[in-house]
Amino acid sequence: MDQQFWDDRYGTKDRLWSGAPNGVLVVEAADLPPGQALDLGCGEGADALWLAGRGWLVTAVDISQVALERAAAMAGDAKVSWTQADLTTFTPPAGSFDLVSALYFPLPRTADKALDRLLAAVAPGGTLLVGSHDLADVPPHGEFDPHDFYQPDEIAERLDDTWTVLVKETRPRVSAAPPGTEHVNDVVLKARKKV
Ligand SMILES: C[S@@+](CC[C@H](N)C(=O)[O-])C[C@H]1O[C@@H](n2cnc3c(N)ncnc32)[C@H](O)[C@@H]1O
Repeated sequence: MDQQFWDDRYGTKDRLWSGAPNGVLVVEAADLPPGQALDLGCGEGADALWLAGRGWLVTAVDISQVALERAAAMAGDAKVSWTQADLTTFTPPAGSFDLVSALYFPLPRTADKALDRLLAAVAPGGTLLVGSHDLADVPPHGEFDPHDFYQPDEIAERLDDTWTVLVKETRPRVSAAPPGTEHVNDVVLKARKKV
């Protein structure tokens, strides 16, 4: 699942996702005071633009140049820092983001150190938000095995006593499932980095 894989996938359609922000983000971030946000695997940018519209300064990172160009084209005047990078090797500035959001972003288990770097990006008092499809709704297909990627529960296990876990649950999606999928439930982790 390298850049070529994702550019090819985005290239199959004019628009892959709905253009609406993820329900998990809308539910969990609506009450957060705006600050600096880091959107991991931002895709076509709907979440980043929703945050920017609420006053957040957003750095939105994706491996796919095709997705990022699409996001930038949608952005209008919104000031989002669209960043092309492979998050298995990228090092965001530590302790810098009031919100780090990873929604349906597939981080391979092999990227053990990357997970530590991404968690370290959350500022004191900041929020980590991870949302994933319930594995019960995602049977392995082709070469893709969802078990090869970090799940929110495992990320929660990585959090030490400098974190407070606020949400850790499996719950029904509030957004419609992406076309061609039968996703029913989200797995959500929300945690606050202690000051
Ligand atoms: C399922 S999409 C989700 C996109 C967006 N978060 C959303 O919910 O609409 C996963 C995204 O992660 C990106 N991605 C996958 N592996 C990546 C990596 N190693 N580094 C950066 N982005 C990656 C893909 O290009 C894709 O845009």
